[in-house]
Amino acid sequence: MPVFFQQQINENTRLGVWKIEETEAFFKGNVPVHREVTHPKKRLQHLAGRFLLQYLFPDFPYELIRIADTRKPFLPDERYHFSISHCGDYAAALVSRDSRVGVDVEMVTPKILLIKDKFLSPEEQSLFISDPSAADPRLLTLLWSAKESVFKWYGEGNIDFKKHIRLTESDSEYTRISCHFVKANKKISIHCHFFGNIVLSYACQ
Ligand SMILES: CC(C)(COP(=O)(O)OP(=O)(O)OC[C@H]1O[C@@H](n2cnc3c(N)ncnc32)[C@H](O)[C@@H]1OP(=O)(O)O)[C@@H](O)C(=O)NCCC(=O)NCCS
Repeated sequence: MPVFFQQQINENTRLGVWKIEETEAFFKGNVPVHREVTHPKKRLQHLAGRFLLQYLFPDFPYELIRIADTRKPFLPDERYHFSISHCGDYAAALVSRDSRVGVDVEMVTPKILLIKDKFLSPEEQSLFISDPSAADPRLLTLLWSAKESVFKWYGEGNIDFKKHIRLTESDSEYTRISCHFVKANKKISIHCHFFGNIVLSYACQ
């Protein structure tokens, strides 16, 4: 299957989502350098994420990718900034010539209801959840994904989701969420999409 969703974010930044229907052999034939991953499904996701990097920018130098202590993959010369995410049969990548990026894809699941207090402060809950007894798993997954994309955008770890990533507002359709990233005292705009049961969010600035 070709790319499932693609967007030219700006002159220097491209986003792609791949629905994985290929075999491992397809990706291995197209991704010369990759990390060994034991679990077959996770290996396929990993390969699809790497594959997207060159799909988006054909001169992306796979061989220069390094992995930081935080496990974030990066290019030492910063020729490209990039971020990868996968869930289920989907892989997403966001690649930019000039901006830090973070992307996250998540599958909506009711399990998110059980952990909302772990990642949302009381202020965020009163801002986004009108009826706490009937919180919407789609919305909670989106809020979780938004924070994951900021975590990845930052890339340096040591983040407390409630303390350091404070979601402050959104538009009525939840296509854009603002956050105050306390560690850098910075406002970050997070872009969001729903694709059926899949939520995608990204930060790029
Ligand atoms: C690292 C983390 C973001 C990965 O997220 P995930 O949902 O497991 O998996 P995803 O598929 O979305 O992302 C995996 C990709 O993120 C990238 N990645 C890994 N660590 C990263 C980091 N520290 N920063 C940025 N990107 C990272 C990698 O590209 C990885 O894929 P690859 O190994 O195939 O290249 C996640 O495990 C994590 O640590 N989140 C923070 C959790 C936390 O602090 N929670 C507290 C709130 S309750």
